[in-house]
Amino acid sequence: MSTFDTVIRNGTVATASDTMQADVGIRDGRIVALGQALSPGREEIDARGRLVLPGGIDAHCHLDQPMGDGLRMADDFLTGTRSAACGGTTTVIPFAAQEKGQSLRAAVEDYHRRAEGKSFVDYAFHMIVTDPTPAVLKDELPALIEAGYTSFKIYMTYEDMRLDDRQILSLLAVARRHGALAMVHAENADCIAWLTEALEEAGQVAPKYHAHARPMAVEREATHRAIALSEVVDVPILIVHVSGREAIDQIRWAHAHGLRIYAETCPQYLLLTSSHLDEGYEGAKCVCSPPPRDRANQRVVWDALADGLFTIVSSDHAPFRFDDPQGKKPGGREVNFQYIPNGIPGLETRLPLLFSEGVRTGRITLNQFVALTSTNPAKLYGLAPRKGAISIGADADIAIWDPDRQVTIANGMLHHAVDYTPYEGLQVTGWPVSTFVRGRRVWDDGQVQGRPGDGMFLPCGRPEMARPKVRDTAPAGNYVGDRPDALGRIVRPEAANAREASKRHAP
Ligand code: URP
Ligand code: ZN
Ligand code: ZN
Repeated sequence: MSTFDTVIRNGTVATASDTMQADVGIRDGRIVALGQALSPGREEIDARGRLVLPGGIDAHCHLDQPMGDGLRMADDFLTGTRSAACGGTTTVIPFAAQEKGQSLRAAVEDYHRRAEGKSFVDYAFHMIVTDPTPAVLKDELPALIEAGYTSFKIYMTYEDMRLDDRQILSLLAVARRHGALAMVHAENADCIAWLTEALEEAGQVAPKYHAHARPMAVEREATHRAIALSEVVDVPILIVHVSGREAIDQIRWAHAHGLRIYAETCPQYLLLTSSHLDEGYEGAKCVCSPPPRDRANQRVVWDALADGLFTIVSSDHAPFRFDDPQGKKPGGREVNFQYIPNGIPGLETRLPLLFSEGVRTGRITLNQFVALTSTNPAKLYGLAPRKGAISIGADADIAIWDPDRQVTIANGMLHHAVDYTPYEGLQVTGWPVSTFVRGRRVWDDGQVQGRPGDGMFLPCGRPEMARPKVRDTAPAGNYVGDRPDALGRIVRPEAANAREASKRHAP
């Protein structure tokens, strides 16, 4: 009898920290051995010349999210996760979005119904909180966090979703008290509304003006404000889809001041520019928020990625068909930029783009690639150590890569339900040739091998990375005290001061 169900032999295994020649032994969907010359498995896979990497975790994607206004996302859990698997991703975390007036629990239950029986890969949910009523803050959110929904997104923009600073503070306090991670979409809604009105009055309504309505300053201001709100509550946050230098400067400032601010970027900010929006109505294909910036900003994002400023790279897959009255042409018409649904597809291309443009060019190392796309998202969202690593006991979620395969990206080869990719015609080197979810092959040699329903729901743990920092000294001017205040914040005085203080207070 074989010890292993499967052995992946002779490959180069890379984790977030190491690269090694090793065989991987899999049993009952888990990695049970890493070594050389492992005994034979029932199935043998020769990975000579290939990279053996943890499957990707795409921790920011939108699938079958209810839209209203006659709009509809192109991808549901079936097509979206099929596309993910074919691009080397084994776990996705899309969003259960609360509509105003809806209970948060109802939004989560509805989202489970949408996912049930459809997913090719494993999945967890973030929540989107748009209506933080007292019931949501006091009862629903704490109960859902306890039940394994341990992250939620806060919008500072989009009229139907935006929250004001006071609402954000209330939500951050819940995150702090109950150990959840808050993700923040940082753009200043009032600035955008004012600029949009001015552009419309001037007749400047083509897709390219989407970028004019959301300049870098709008993102910089909101990023700074989000950081300040996180500091006031003393809780870590993640700034999602960071697009360029000025927002990065704010995050660097926060890090320099000892604040625990995590940051995410996406391939569109590394590879697209605002000129992609300047192609007549075709520019609608690249309308997303924040918008892609210019080449100088791209370089800064790449540098920040190399320097370790970013924790994760996600796709922000938000799929709308271009030639579709429920997509980028609402009602079948070419509309003013502010009515174009925001978002671009990217679940299947996220990893190959970052591998080719990041690892193959030497901008980031292979280990950084693994960290940014798999290991860190698992840690950030409470899925580690089960997910995001090639280690003993972890789920056998594995992507085998041909690092030399040359591919010219074309929408026809992708497995989503969107009718375009922003990366049409782009040549990349390196592609995942086989994907395994808990030891089961879902993508192999150009063929989809998995079935809808293979993927399972993953309740998330409370992420350690969401814990407030234990401080010995307060940031200047922010001293809270050595006893918990109303929010439970505590700043420990330096040890010497503490000794002094105890002497002073001794009878
Ligand atoms: O344009 C984008 N990013 N659409 C998706 C929704 C969001 O804000 O992430
Ligand atoms: Zn967003
Ligand atoms: Zn998004």
